[in-house]
This record gives sequence, C-alpha cells and structure tokens, in this order.
Amino acid sequence: MVRSDPTIGELENWSATVLCDEVFSSYDTQVLLCFCLGKSPAYLLTHRNDVVDKETESWFRDLVDRRLTGVPVAYLTGYREFWSLPIMVDENVLIPRPDTELLVEHVLTRIPIHSRPRILELGTGSGAVALALATERPNSSILATDRSVSAIEVARKNQTVLNINNISWIVSDWFSAIGNQEFDIICSNPPYIAISDHHLIAGDLRSEPVSALASGEQGLDDLKLIVRQSAQYLISGGSLLVEHGYQQGEQVRQIFQAAGYLDIRTLKDLSANDRVTVGVKPL
Ligand SMILES: C[S@@+](CC[C@H](N)C(=O)[O-])C[C@H]1O[C@@H](n2cnc3c(N)ncnc32)[C@H](O)[C@@H]1O
Repeated sequence: MVRSDPTIGELENWSATVLCDEVFSSYDTQVLLCFCLGKSPAYLLTHRNDVVDKETESWFRDLVDRRLTGVPVAYLTGYREFWSLPIMVDENVLIPRPDTELLVEHVLTRIPIHSRPRILELGTGSGAVALALATERPNSSILATDRSVSAIEVARKNQTVLNINNISWIVSDWFSAIGNQEFDIICSNPPYIAISDHHLIAGDLRSEPVSALASGEQGLDDLKLIVRQSAQYLISGGSLLVEHGYQQGEQVRQIFQAAGYLDIRTLKDLSANDRVTVGVKPL
C-alpha cells in the first residue's frame, strides 16, 4: 500500500510525541515546522489538514532527528532573534540569549540619542550586542572583537545582511589588538561559567563552543581580566558594563571595587536575578 503524504497536523503530532523529553518543547516542533514550510505559527494552526510534500516532510523529519541528538533549534534554523533583529548563527558562535538584552538596554541608557560615542564590545560572537547597539545609536562608532576568527566572520555576515555600517570588527584576545584607543563605553558578555559546572555537558550547552561559555575554576577569570584592563581603555567618566552569572553579582562588584571603579551597581534581569554589573572610571 502506498503511504499518502502526511498533513501539517500529522507531522506536528508526530514531532510532539518524539520531542517529548523535558529537554525539548512543543515550541521546538513549531519553530522547525514553520521553518521548513516557510510559514508562520498562525498558518500551522489554520492549515492543519494541508498535505506536506515529500521533500519538506523528509527535511522536517531530519531536523527533528538532529534536534533529538541535542542540536539547538537555532543551529538547525541558522538564526535567532535578538533585540528584534534576525541574527544568523552557526556552531562557531554562542546563540544570543534574551538575558543579554539587559546589557544592551543599560548601555543604551548611557548614550544620549544624538551623541557620537566610541563603544568597545569585547567577545562579540555572532555580533548580536554590537548590532543591536549600532541599530539604536547609528551615530556611535563601535569596535567589536572576538578571539575566534570564525565568530568574526559570522558577525561580519550579519552586519552585511542587516545593512549596518557603524561597526568595525577585529580578531583580538581581549585587549591584545586594540592598540592605543580610548572608549566612552566598554561592554561585554564574556564566558562566565565554572569549568566544572555540570550544565556544560548537558542540554543545548553541549553544542555551543566551550570557549564562549567557560572561564576558569569559578567562571571569573575572564571577568577579572576585562574589569582590570578596561580602565586603561576607558576615558575618565567612561562606563564598563559586563554580563555575569546570577550568583556572581557580589564577587563581580568586589572585582570592580578593587579595580577602582565608582558608582558600581548590579542590574537585575526580568527574573530579578543579578545579571549585569556596571562601574564608572573615576574622573
Ligand atoms: C558568552 S559569549 C558572548 C557572545 C555574544 N557577545 C553574545 O552575547 O551573544 C563570549 C564570547 O567571548 C569570546 N571570547 C572568549 N575568550 C575570548 C578572549 N580571550 N578574547 C576575546 N574573545 C573571547 C568567545 O569566542 C565568545 O564569542
């Protein structure tokens, strides 16, 4: 007997039964099915009885199989939305997180709309933070860095697709290639997970570059280096903003204090967790 082509509803039901582990969600099914069909979630709801052609069906089944092996949805679709921008991602870059929008939000509060600040973003990955800042403050001049050549390639592609032209990108091991420059604002979402943290070998984190996530025994090695060295590259009165783990607020504030910053504050994310610490270089 020849099997008839499945409907959208049948494929959705099949995927929901396969991706039923606590790691996966019905959202995964929806995103992947929308991606393969090139349609919106509303379309799925209203066209459940539409038949799906063989090629799309096998593409979708293949993506679900890869999701089952732990590949994050954003690597399967090749993009993730950040600050309402479609950001291309691949296995060489961290998938931008909604938490990091807090970093963008607080950098923006320090930049009057028509000012022309010089901003340095350290560890740009896909370029999400720099691209969001550049969109909101087109008069700013942004330098974004990463140690990973592949990450900088992804970030540059994003800049081209989004048609943004106030960012320069360089490969740099933190400050090694910055040279003799000063900035009004430095920001970073550096790696901050302890190397022994079991989350690194579970769930979606397994697929992301460990160099983007882990930083020494307590997760603080890169934060310490960035906080200490940023003072050399900030103008007097300039601000440093760093994202960190929700349990690292107190330690990070101490690192800022020891490095001589003023007006040190930790900002909380939507779940009321410590997420971003900011400090100002004394005048
Ligand atoms: C947590 S990810 C943040 C990526 C991106 N800014 C975001 O928020 O989605 C940290 C980034 O720092 C980069 N990185 C790690 N060590 C570095 C170093 N020594 N110098 C420069 N960049 C580094 C990683 O390659 C990675 O892209």
